[in-house]
Amino acid sequence: MGTVGATTKSERCSVRGSIDLVNLLLLSGSTRAKSTNAAALASVAASAPPTATTTIYRGLSALPAFNPDDDHDPLPDEVSTLRQLIRAADAVLFCTPEYAGTLPGSFKNLLDWTVGGTEMADKPVAWINVAAPGRGHGAGSTLETVLGYVGAQLIPTACISAPVGRDDVDDDGVIRNVEISRTLAQIWVELRRQ
Ligand SMILES: Cc1cc2nc3c(=O)[nH]c(=O)nc-3n(C[C@H](O)[C@H](O)[C@H](O)COP(=O)(O)O)c2cc1C
Repeated sequence: MGTVGATTKSERCSVRGSIDLVNLLLLSGSTRAKSTNAAALASVAASAPPTATTTIYRGLSALPAFNPDDDHDPLPDEVSTLRQLIRAADAVLFCTPEYAGTLPGSFKNLLDWTVGGTEMADKPVAWINVAAPGRGHGAGSTLETVLGYVGAQLIPTACISAPVGRDDVDDDGVIRNVEISRTLAQIWVELRRQ
């Protein structure tokens, strides 16, 4: 369990300047089936250029509660997998719901597990906000605070708001709204342009 990678051709990348993105890790902050956030990330993955590889992280619910006493080798398997995936990624794209004005606890738990590692340092990162217009900014700003704390390199132009309603997600967790899919696909242009 844990992860699913949709693999295509790859090429090497340079982190600064123009990114020839090889491997994008997509990380949803929702544990819900038919999640709008997970659907948005699946849509981004589906529109990946042939030169890119995408990996959708599916291990959020399986992560143990963060405990500093356990933050050493050997790490819990789920944490080790998470850190390996971040290390292997050329960039990480987050998409999270807002709960009670901030990040969902399970997602903050995931982020807490990244603090003790070095994998996020200088990692190019971006986020998508799929909440209704004017919503979700509490989650977004907390996410940016944590990403700054771990030294990730935020790509502001690749951070987009693209509202996704529950009606936009079909029973398979796929977005069928072409306009939303097109907006989400634009993220590849921004990721590669920075
Ligand atoms: C416990 C809980 C708290 C929530 N708090 C907020 C909130 O503070 N602000 C907001 O805009 N939406 C809030 N929502 C709505 C969720 O963000 C919304 O249902 C979102 O679609 C969930 O994302 P998902 O479809 O990916 O699971 C909350 C939902 C739940 C279950």
